[in-house]
Amino acid sequence: MKGIILAGGSGSRLHPATVTVSKQLLPVYDKPMIYYPLSVLMLANIRDILIITTPRDLHQFRSLLGDGATLGLNLDYNVQPEPHGLAEAFLIGAGHIANDPVALILGDNIFHGYGFSDLLQANTTDIEGCVLFGYPVHDPWRYGVGETDGSGRLTSIEEKPTQPRSNRAITGLYFYRNDVVDIAKNIRPSARGELEITDVNRVYVERGTARLVELGRGFAWLDTGTPDALLQASQYLQTLEQRQGVRIACLEEVALRMGFIDADTCYSLGRAQAHSPYGQYIMDVASEVDPSPIHPGT
Ligand code: G1P
Repeated sequence: MKGIILAGGSGSRLHPATVTVSKQLLPVYDKPMIYYPLSVLMLANIRDILIITTPRDLHQFRSLLGDGATLGLNLDYNVQPEPHGLAEAFLIGAGHIANDPVALILGDNIFHGYGFSDLLQANTTDIEGCVLFGYPVHDPWRYGVGETDGSGRLTSIEEKPTQPRSNRAITGLYFYRNDVVDIAKNIRPSARGELEITDVNRVYVERGTARLVELGRGFAWLDTGTPDALLQASQYLQTLEQRQGVRIACLEEVALRMGFIDADTCYSLGRAQAHSPYGQYIMDVASEVDPSPIHPGT
């Protein structure tokens, strides 16, 4: 399965913080926002990933993450010159997707929960149409909203409805069969001139091949859309990380635990950032996994 992270947009709801910096590069507690969605794709065992961003921000994403080889990934980049809607990702990414199924994740979505990796991997195979992830929220009118028949099959989906039919928000993580590219090519722009992801998903709903995986109480799906939400997300992560002594979305650790890199490589990635607690943490994780004295300085 291929992966796409959509990290475009103007971030205008966060101005002036995002006048010169991509929203998805802002720190969320101790790491850039894009680390969180990237870690989700890695936990789904997806290693071939396209990052779509704006012409302005492309260089910064590339200098942060490079070609991904040090993490055992293959990262590629492309631009969305104007924000023409989320579904444009499938047109921009058509060459990257080629003949494979694809996972799309929005670059500002933060997920956290026990057993997430297993849940993701269980849903990346045998996709009949699309697999969406639902999360109960108190303000569903701000999101895509789905309704199911009780067995996980979606029976309706609406974008930001004034009268939501359920409290199930559709999160910004989507798994598709390869035909999503053709579907995206054939949908019409919405009234606001955008190719809406919900219109793509509705095609699968109408075919009866859209499935909703419920992320229940054991999961956090955090908002980053406003200054307050962003600060709250940082505080949530700080609380968990400090209390448990683990780091969430530490890419080097995820790469190690997924078997994409070995402990020596992981250790040297930590050592390169040894002045920060994040770098120290990576060195500690690598040494726990492989305590051999190969790591200089341990
Ligand atoms: C987009 C989608 C919406 C989804 C949300 C998740 O909305 O259109 O269906 O629920 O992402 O983050 P946006 O945040 O672009 O308004």
